[in-house]
Amino acid sequence: MQKVRDGFMFRSLETERTRNTLAEGRSVLIVGLRRIGKTWLMGEVGARLENSGREVIWLDVQDLPEPGHFYLELLGALPKGWRERLISAIAHTRTMPTRLLNGIREHIGKFSVAGQGAEFRQGLADYAGPLSSAIEEIIAQGGPLPILVIDELPFFLENLLERGYPAEEIRRLLATLRSWREKGLPMLIGGSISLEHLLESIQVPRTVLGGLKPIRVHPFTLDEARQFLLAQASEHARTMLDEASCDLILEHIPDHIPFLLRVVLDNFHAVHVQKELEAFLANDVLPEIHRSFFTQFDERLSLRFDESEQQMVKRLLDYLCKTGEASLTDFENLPLPHPGKLGAVLAKMQLDDFVMETPQMRYRFSLELLRRWWCGRRGIKA
Ligand SMILES: Nc1ncnc2c1ncn2[C@@H]1O[C@H](COP(=O)(O)OP(=O)(O)O)[C@@H](O)[C@H]1O
Ligand SMILES: [Mg+2]
Repeated sequence: MQKVRDGFMFRSLETERTRNTLAEGRSVLIVGLRRIGKTWLMGEVGARLENSGREVIWLDVQDLPEPGHFYLELLGALPKGWRERLISAIAHTRTMPTRLLNGIREHIGKFSVAGQGAEFRQGLADYAGPLSSAIEEIIAQGGPLPILVIDELPFFLENLLERGYPAEEIRRLLATLRSWREKGLPMLIGGSISLEHLLESIQVPRTVLGGLKPIRVHPFTLDEARQFLLAQASEHARTMLDEASCDLILEHIPDHIPFLLRVVLDNFHAVHVQKELEAFLANDVLPEIHRSFFTQFDERLSLRFDESEQQMVKRLLDYLCKTGEASLTDFENLPLPHPGKLGAVLAKMQLDDFVMETPQMRYRFSLELLRRWWCGRRGIKA
């Protein structure tokens, strides 16, 4: 059961759209930059659905290390009423080893994973096919269906790849989820990594995402950002937050992502008089944002791109520092070390949120702050 938390602002459109889509029995993929508020939005929607009497299954898969864990978590979270139905459905589909069947019987609807060893998980992964068909069968029987919420699914899939599981494993898992959706199980899936670009980078057709309606979570508008600052400021901060100081803050934090604005508010106790504000933003806030938010771009660059790809990333980002935006042709016209890799590198750069595509099919930094940060450390004048 999820609690409704105070302070959730300006997402009524996305919340309503998501809730209505799920209530109609369709599925949603929540997309948006890191820390923009996807998890909170999903929690909010799920809590409202629960309050109106819907059963919600919550799966946080971020830290699961094996495919078998996914089925283990799912079994643990299935509604109690599914126990007998699932056991008899499995008996219809295909034979399973008795030990595995007994383990499943014991495990359904029980959140504790104690006593379930590696052998059981491997069994679940090996027999994922019949298990999944049995779940399909129950969904098809109709009756009130729960809503399956899966947060950080793309992160989990990326983890599996990093652990050496093949792309086929990813495809199979996503195809299973699609088959459940097609039978009528509504899903709410979210995560900061773009599923589409992840699939593109491992050449899995995006048809496995069938039946998912994307709903995008945007940064706050300028006006919302201002209202957010005023509404969430401490008493101390509020004494200093007049129009000019809000403007100054939003000039320094031009990407109106709630998490970034929170960094300002959470550190505001360091400001005693208004004239300290500018120094505070430059000396306290920006370094904190760089530390907590941007160093992961460095990590990703060195972890996920090989030497020659890194060179290309640097060349492309340097170019964007100067121009702000670029088309694919602009990039193709640059002297690049391995031009043949451009498409793949751009897909990965989007996967990792370095750049995004504008509606006009041009590329730009995903965040203005990221651009300033990159320009600064590369010594480029923006
Ligand atoms: N709509 C919102 N109103 C107020 N604060 C928000 C909102 N969305 C996000 N936040 C703040 O940003 C933080 C990150 O949100 P989260 O949902 O974890 O982002 P994501 O899942 O996209 O990474 C939250 O803990 C909260 O402080
Ligand atoms: Mg999240």
